[in-house]
Amino acid sequence: MSLRTVVEGVSHYVPERRVTNADLTTMMDTSEQWILDRTGIEERRFVDQPTPTSHLALESARRVLEKTKTSTEDVDFLLAATLSPDFYFPGIGPMIQSGLGLKTIPALDIRVQCSGLVYGLSAADAFIRSGQSKCLLLVCAEVQSPVLDFSTRGRDTAVLFGDGAGALLLRAEETDDSTDLLARRGIIDSYLGSDGQGAEVLCVRTPGTSTTGFITQEDFDERRWRPHMDGRQVFKNAVIRMCEAATEILQRNSLTPDDIALIVPHQANLRINEAVRERLGFREEQVFNNIQKYGNTTSATIPIALSEAEEEGRLKRGDLLLTLAFGAGFTWGANLVVW
Ligand code: UT7
Repeated sequence: MSLRTVVEGVSHYVPERRVTNADLTTMMDTSEQWILDRTGIEERRFVDQPTPTSHLALESARRVLEKTKTSTEDVDFLLAATLSPDFYFPGIGPMIQSGLGLKTIPALDIRVQCSGLVYGLSAADAFIRSGQSKCLLLVCAEVQSPVLDFSTRGRDTAVLFGDGAGALLLRAEETDDSTDLLARRGIIDSYLGSDGQGAEVLCVRTPGTSTTGFITQEDFDERRWRPHMDGRQVFKNAVIRMCEAATEILQRNSLTPDDIALIVPHQANLRINEAVRERLGFREEQVFNNIQKYGNTTSATIPIALSEAEEEGRLKRGDLLLTLAFGAGFTWGANLVVW
């Protein structure tokens, strides 16, 4: 017998306020067609300010606890992924712990940007299989709209991102090792990578310790507290690394693209996901995308997509799921899960 990490449930929460591409054309020099053609995004959700990230995190967490009928008493470990915490420090993990009224359990923030879910599932699996947790809550949440630049100068990033959150409840389950791996529910494998050579290709530079005095007037005036991105570089690396992650995890588990029921990739750009799908030889119906409705919600894209895929009947118990992500850092990875 050995321990296995089973995904008991997933839920999501997005703010009510819809912001369409047409809305953005009133703020900057862009067009509905440009945004749709280059990214696939039709609209995104923004919070009414000020709404802290922990608020969205708590909403999604409450939903998954309710859905899985899990008592707050049962949760014994919390992982929280975000690039947009309420404060510079502490992270949102302890805020979620107290907001939900959980016991004084470990709360760990994960900072790997768009790869938050894949790193989070891998870490959850390690904590559970090593016996440190039996019931783990993984929350991915972002409030990005306040830092975006809605003038024409910031149009290359402002049209891409949205606010949202998703949460997963993971449980330890004892399994008989003689049973076929794919016949048992749970996380089968994770593949993770990073390359800090890409750190400044997509980043928010200040406030930070690389600047004298944490943030200077010049940093502020030059908008170095807004996201900076070389989009083409990120695009190119995303396709390469997501393909690498998928190929590696399939090969080392002796699987082919046909074995996968559903791929839920990070939602940064429909063209990235289409390029990855084509290169790997997956059929269109094997890939779930919902970037059209939410834009890029960074760590929350995959949990939101998992939750919607399940609601729409595209992801069912026993299905073999492949997640794929790439994000700032650079960081990337994949998980293979029997849902
Ligand atoms: O989650 C991980 C993080 N992010 C990503 O994965 C994003 C990866 N990158 C991308 O998705 C794409 O590179 C973008 C969507 C950001 C840009 O698409 P692109 O096809 O790579 O366009 P580009 O950067 O090559 O820019 C094409 C043109 C430029 O004009 P010129 O220099 O050709 O005259 C831009 O100034 O489009 C212009 N442009 C815009 N035009 C209208 C950039 N943003 C906009 C805009 N509206 N919002």
